[in-house]
Amino acid sequence: MADETRSDATIEHLAAEGRTIEPPEEFARRATIGTEDTYRVMYRRSLEEPERFWREAAEQELDWIEPFDTVMSGGFEDLDYRWFDGGVLNVAANCLDRHLGTWRRNKAALIWESDDGHTKTYTYQQLHYEVSRFANVLKKKGVEKGDRVAIYLPMIPELPIAMLACARIGAIHSVVFGGFSSSALRERIQDCSAKMLITADEGIRGGRKVALKVAADEALFECPSVESCVVVQRGAGDVDMEPGRDTWWHQEISAPEVRKPCALEPMAAEDPLFILYTSGSTGKPKGVLHTTAGYLLYSALTFKTVMDYRDEDVYWCTADIGWVTGHSYIVYGPLAAGATSLMFEGVPTYPDPGRFWAVVEKYRVNIFYTAPTAIRALMRHGSGWPQRYDLSSIRLLGTVGEPINPEVWTWYHETIGRGEVPIVDTYWQTETGGFLITPFPGATPLKPGSASWPFFGVEPEVVREDGSRADPGEGGYLTVRRPWPGMLRGTWGDPHHKRMHEVYFERFPGRYFTGDGARVDADGDYWLLGRVDDVINVSGHRLGTAEIESALVSHEAVSEAAVVGFPHEVKGEGIHAYVILRDGYHASEDLASILSGHVRKVIGPIAKPDRIQFAQDLPKTRSGKIMRRILRKIAAGETETDAFGDLSTLAEPKVVKDLIAGRAAL
Ligand code: WTA
Repeated sequence: MADETRSDATIEHLAAEGRTIEPPEEFARRATIGTEDTYRVMYRRSLEEPERFWREAAEQELDWIEPFDTVMSGGFEDLDYRWFDGGVLNVAANCLDRHLGTWRRNKAALIWESDDGHTKTYTYQQLHYEVSRFANVLKKKGVEKGDRVAIYLPMIPELPIAMLACARIGAIHSVVFGGFSSSALRERIQDCSAKMLITADEGIRGGRKVALKVAADEALFECPSVESCVVVQRGAGDVDMEPGRDTWWHQEISAPEVRKPCALEPMAAEDPLFILYTSGSTGKPKGVLHTTAGYLLYSALTFKTVMDYRDEDVYWCTADIGWVTGHSYIVYGPLAAGATSLMFEGVPTYPDPGRFWAVVEKYRVNIFYTAPTAIRALMRHGSGWPQRYDLSSIRLLGTVGEPINPEVWTWYHETIGRGEVPIVDTYWQTETGGFLITPFPGATPLKPGSASWPFFGVEPEVVREDGSRADPGEGGYLTVRRPWPGMLRGTWGDPHHKRMHEVYFERFPGRYFTGDGARVDADGDYWLLGRVDDVINVSGHRLGTAEIESALVSHEAVSEAAVVGFPHEVKGEGIHAYVILRDGYHASEDLASILSGHVRKVIGPIAKPDRIQFAQDLPKTRSGKIMRRILRKIAAGETETDAFGDLSTLAEPKVVKDLIAGRAAL
């Protein structure tokens, strides 16, 4: 991977570890996939007889209104791959209605823990009622099958209710993370021409209010496609309501005519379910498109087998539903499986760093799924916090979002998992719909830091620059050689897959390229090495450096900007911005904080640079391309130019010394 490799030290460290942890016997005995052999046989079958494998899975896991004719067609040549054509089904019916005829009718579907410790519980029956009512509201407001509905809500029950209501009537939802700014919201609404926006007066996180409606109003100023806006009252309700456009959720759902059951929209297997925007290495965020049957099957099956869900379990995924993890593993996967899914409005450190463990104790959580960044943040507060709580209900732990360092893995295992609970380090992406590479907790000998094995039907290959297969132990680019049911069907506004081809398929023809580096060890276990493109992963949130650069350059003081990630103890990666000022502006701490605030306003607090380094010039090749590897090394604190690799293509060698000096002065 030449100069793009950022994690050589980590790889060596991990390789030196060489420790494996066998699945506990008791766990394996009851697990869905209980031995390594079971996995291998099923995995082989999923690749050798994919039609049969996926037909059986689709028949077993989903309820169909009309059966499908074809399991799969098309492929990576034309990018017109399709799953379960001819089949008709409804996602909301699979997540709710079908459980009503079983004992699960009165099982808790959703448990909500509020920021300040209040609880709301919805049984499957109750959730069905709420979804049906709101689906009627959507219809009343003129939302029809195929229309886009933007959802900009905090972590409150109305968020999954709104999503499922869209699914019920065939509207395509696009959830925008509540931490995004008004301009980020505007950009997403405009891109998919949403007809409606669902938001709240405010959000409450960690005791602090987030003014969602104010941001929504600002965005809607320039969103002519939005005809109506439904507002949930989470706070005091003290916000401006635009007559003719804005109405209150609680008033809408109490109209008598929305109480009658809302009929299900029969959806074709490949009808769109949702759009979720995500950052890439170039340009604006892409609206990743997922469709009905393949996505639902994949999220449900991965959830059941990897999270090893049993009917009596309380399962808690701490993600925000504004990201894909919340879509697949708080809402769709768990509800399709008839699980009890806990959702949490708050943050890990409020009112104190024991909050996660207090919630685990309160609900006797059995399966706990979080991000390495949260674990690192809590680790810093010491083992005293978890030790104060009864965590004995936990039988499975999971992580997602970024590579987990072996030290952090071990702390998680020992302190939260009593040294005996399996950990599933699940590797996947917005585009993949569900887990791509993951341990199976009853079958996989775990290696701290490794995401282990490909999921069924996934055929990964780590390749070199020239596309040839990398040797065992050799770092390379992670690609996938054939479609799987949960993968993206395209990006919004790109009907001929031009952009999709460029982003995911051009670099390695005939393969899906993840944008991540990986290596496979001698046992066939996968180790993820981080992004190899210009995407940085800040606290498990994916950000394109290009977006942050455009935000900086949109400020009048900035003439040019280059953004890179640097290793950060808690966030995984921090944001280091090199900024060149326009004539007439002078570097100062004040200006640095103004620029940080500007990025925060344009994108959101997650994109705020940790450091701004003013510079006179950037290292460029003679053809004018910024040499980012040099900027990354400098940001990481490297001072020896010998370590920078080949500098002969540099147009102006002096730049490097100046930047090193500038970094030292920060
Ligand atoms: C990274 C989140 C290592 C990876 C589900 C990927 C991981 C990006 C892991 C996707 C993991 C996610 N180990 N890296 N277990 N999980 N990543 O789209 O770089 O928000 O490409 O989806 O997160 O981020 P996204």
